[in-house]
Amino acid sequence: MLDIAAYYSYLPRQPGSHPDPALAAPSIVARCAISRACASCHATSDAKLGTPWLDGQSAVYVKAQLQAFATGGRRNEISEQMMNIARQMTAAEIDEGARYYASRP
Ligand code: HEC
Repeated sequence: MLDIAAYYSYLPRQPGSHPDPALAAPSIVARCAISRACASCHATSDAKLGTPWLDGQSAVYVKAQLQAFATGGRRNEISEQMMNIARQMTAAEIDEGARYYASRP
C-alpha cells in the first residue's frame, strides 16, 4: 500500500475538465451557514493537511461524495466533520458546490 500511495502521489495533477467557465463562489462555499465556509478547509495550495483539493474535481464526483457523506454511504472520517456538514446541505447547495469546484482550474 505504501508503494502504491507513493506512486500516485508522485504523479502530476491532471487539469480538470471545466464544464463552466470560472463560476463565482456560491454562498454555500464562501459563507457557509452550516459550518465554516468550505473554502476555509478546501483551499488551494494552502489547504489544511488531510483536506482534499476540490478545485477542478469532477462535479459528478463531488456531488456523489457529498450525497454519500449525507446518507452515511461514506463513513471513513474519524471526526465526521464532512458527514455533519453534508447532512445539512440542501440538494441545491450540493449542486452549486459541485458545479463551482468543477469550474475551478
Ligand atoms: C472543517 C473543515 C472542512 C470544511 C468546513 C469542509 N470540509 Fe469537506 N472535507 C474536509 C476533510 C478533512 C475531508 C476529508 C474527509 C475524509 O475522507 O477523511 C473533506 C472531504 C470532502 C469531500 C470529498 C473529497 C474527495 O476527494 O473524496 C468533498 C466533496 C467535500 N469535502 C466538500 C465540501 C464542501 C462542499 C464543503 C462546504 C459546504 C466542505 N467540504 C466543508 C474538511 C472540511
